[in-house]
Amino acid sequence: MADQTIVKGYELENDFYNLSGGAQWTFAKKDGKKWFIKRFKDPVCPNDTDSYSEDMIREKRAAGIKFYKNKRAVYDAVNDCDNGNIVTIQDFFLWKCRYHVVTERIDAENIDVKDIAALPQDEKYLLLKTLALNMMRLHQKKLIYADIRPDNILFKRSKGGKLVAKLIDFDGCYFEYDPPEVKGIPLSEPYIAPETGRVVFDGEELHLTTKVDVFSLGLLFHLYWTGHMPNFDEDEYGFAFRALLDGGSLQVSGDIPPRLAALIRMMLLKEPADRPDMSYVLQELKRITGDVDAVKPAPAPAPGAVKKSSFTTTIRMSSKGPAKSDGSVIILPERLPRRGEAPEEAPPEPEKKSDSSLFYIPTDF
Ligand SMILES: Nc1ncnc2c1ncn2[C@@H]1O[C@H](COP(=O)(O)OP(=O)(O)OP(=O)(O)O)[C@@H](O)[C@H]1O
Ligand SMILES: [Mg+2]
Repeated sequence: MADQTIVKGYELENDFYNLSGGAQWTFAKKDGKKWFIKRFKDPVCPNDTDSYSEDMIREKRAAGIKFYKNKRAVYDAVNDCDNGNIVTIQDFFLWKCRYHVVTERIDAENIDVKDIAALPQDEKYLLLKTLALNMMRLHQKKLIYADIRPDNILFKRSKGGKLVAKLIDFDGCYFEYDPPEVKGIPLSEPYIAPETGRVVFDGEELHLTTKVDVFSLGLLFHLYWTGHMPNFDEDEYGFAFRALLDGGSLQVSGDIPPRLAALIRMMLLKEPADRPDMSYVLQELKRITGDVDAVKPAPAPAPGAVKKSSFTTTIRMSSKGPAKSDGSVIILPERLPRRGEAPEEAPPEPEKKSDSSLFYIPTDF
């Protein structure tokens, strides 16, 4: 392999592959388990040996710390939503100037939307309910998933042979009250909501909400049920969101059972405020399938309440060079604790602070 073969104890199976957005990924092994590792393209936190000015180094490291804090808060919230079908974050660290995120490797079925559309109705309803529950939990944390599309849902077979949907890739996720800059909003045009299009393409200053996911999920439900997207005038409009913004309409297929079709129509309304929230979507799916009392929804958190991480993480960036001889400069617990687990003990503080306090930043969030 051209790359290094071990990254923070993870034995890489291959060189990193390039993703379209500039990040890279590969599979790896550690502790007898299989992992998926993504290496972010940005930010890059330089070593002191790099030929940047000190100001530039400070600036880049500050960007790294901001990135780390933001992602860490999102990942902690995602891990709190774990119900078995969210592929949670197991590790997140800086290694040789770049950030890496690790999740369990899913040995996914080789299956496409046509195969899903061909499943028996009860299996399709189960998939829809799984996705609705995942999304509802994220929304209860005020997290916008923001990148719903088939590539971000992997399918595994349960022991009983049924397909189970696993939600991956939380790297586009953000808190509703802490939106990224416009360039940081994930943009898979076939699936984006009209208001996302207004912000990204039309330059409008709108506050995006969790309802963007409701719209995208409405499209995905349609795709999974029928094997195709709702019809719209494709000669006139490139994507569903544009059809709605320009006064066109989306036609929900007559092959979808009427009550589900009505729900999808509501999810695809142009105005976010007119769409149902995910709690309603899940309840309606349960009513349709006759199991409304089977599972109680998780209680909604108090408005704005996002649980803070209960353990301390130390970020150490020495002005003299990498903090550890192996190239790792962030000391993290082996993995992020899952819900209900006792947090691992925080790593010991280094003996002495760096002579430049800027580069020594203990965070507790
Ligand atoms: N935990 C995992 N197990 C197995 N395969 C995975 C896992 N996570 C991601 N993948 C595979 O790698 C692909 C890319 O991963 P991911 O969705 O995280 O990257 P991305 O940033 O969305 O990339 P792009 O923008 O190019 O789609 C996924 O579509 C999936 O096929
Ligand atoms: Mg993805």
